[in-house]
Amino acid sequence: MPTRILIVGSGGREHALAWKLAHEPGVNDVIVAPGSDGIAAEPRVTVVPGVDPLDGAAVVALARAHAAELTVIGPEAPLAAGVADALAAAGIAVFGPIRAAARIESSKAFCREVADAAGVPMARGRAFSTAAAGRSAALELFERDGAVVIKADGLAAGKGVTVCDDRATLEAALSRDGPVVVEERLVGREASVMALCDGVDAVALPVSRDHKRLADGDHGPMTGGMGAYSPLADVPDAAADDLLDRFHRPVLRELARRGATFRGALYAGLMLTSAGPRLLEFNARLGDPETQVILPRLAVALGPMLLAAARGRPASSGTQLPTFPGAAVGVVLASQGYPDLPRRGDRIEGLADALAGGAVVFHSGTRRDQDGSWRTNGGRVLTVVGRGHDTEAARAAADAAAGRISFAGAQRRHDIGVQPAPVTA
Ligand code: AMP
Ligand code: GLY
Repeated sequence: MPTRILIVGSGGREHALAWKLAHEPGVNDVIVAPGSDGIAAEPRVTVVPGVDPLDGAAVVALARAHAAELTVIGPEAPLAAGVADALAAAGIAVFGPIRAAARIESSKAFCREVADAAGVPMARGRAFSTAAAGRSAALELFERDGAVVIKADGLAAGKGVTVCDDRATLEAALSRDGPVVVEERLVGREASVMALCDGVDAVALPVSRDHKRLADGDHGPMTGGMGAYSPLADVPDAAADDLLDRFHRPVLRELARRGATFRGALYAGLMLTSAGPRLLEFNARLGDPETQVILPRLAVALGPMLLAAARGRPASSGTQLPTFPGAAVGVVLASQGYPDLPRRGDRIEGLADALAGGAVVFHSGTRRDQDGSWRTNGGRVLTVVGRGHDTEAARAAADAAAGRISFAGAQRRHDIGVQPAPVTA
């Protein structure tokens, strides 16, 4: 049981982690660096602003200063920057993979290579060192399927993927610089299957679904995620362990074989195709906004599980984590101009009303003025989570609470938790 936990990050996912951990028995201190004004408002949580989350030495010093028994790294950038390596080298337990293992997310080409070697089913495709080199492969798939997917090879906050279903979009995607992965377009519903991994084995978190497009009905540009819900009618939590057998455990073995032992959250983005589930991507971290709906459902303390995984102790493999009855739906409120050019500084009204109605509100991009008022301070601003006896009730609760919050130019979806229709080509 860790009593002092340091969380690295500042978004809605880290707010949800802090909220969950601070409520757990035995936890005395939750420190979030750099955190945010919204996270600082959480009872029993301290933030340390001004810490560079990409600076391994600074994070090690902070963990030591607070005698943290566990450090949890939220976002992908510190993982790719080797912050987990620095903590591990300093002998500090860290939940979050070392850089060599985090490449599963930071390089789409590496992800394909490892998934291939591990025998994980995924979209057919190939990595190319430049978009120009991938041109003829892309055109071939486009002619065959009427669509093709082009993925930039680096970290892109969920926005580096273009599903090209017309020629102009394809040409624009091919004109970008840098290495790409060219992939066949898969059709189906998506599911986010995350697992807590100890390097060898994994325990499944409840299954959720993100809504990646900006507008209702899955229209508009790709975003980092406009909302999520859990559980799913079509992929019950009880089905997750089988998916871990097919996706996560083979990849953990392959990474360990390469000396890149993965300790942290491994997130498989799956497409549920008519031929079975296929891998779209692995992330080396928890999802955002998926975490905001999963953690309120968990009826078990997270801290001991994260610490056990960080120490490389067997996770309780094959077990299904207990959950509270009912469902959770999280609606993201995004700022004007998101995802391209988010505007900052708009005054947020109605937060207290939303909370009074029983919703949980996680702050992704806000700041507090000296007079106590809240302002937007990023692309995704808030995740408003409603709970209810079923998805429909949770959706109604989230929607009502989100409707009480307002700021100039706010964007949100109204169909989070509505099961997408089965997609066909
Ligand atoms: P990724 O970052 O690879 O998960 O891609 C982000 C989003 O792009 C996914 O959640 C899907 O909505 C979409 N996507 C990625 N790969 C494919 C694919 N091969 N076929 C169809 N959609 C895809
Ligand atoms: N919500 C998608 C992600 O975290 O990558």
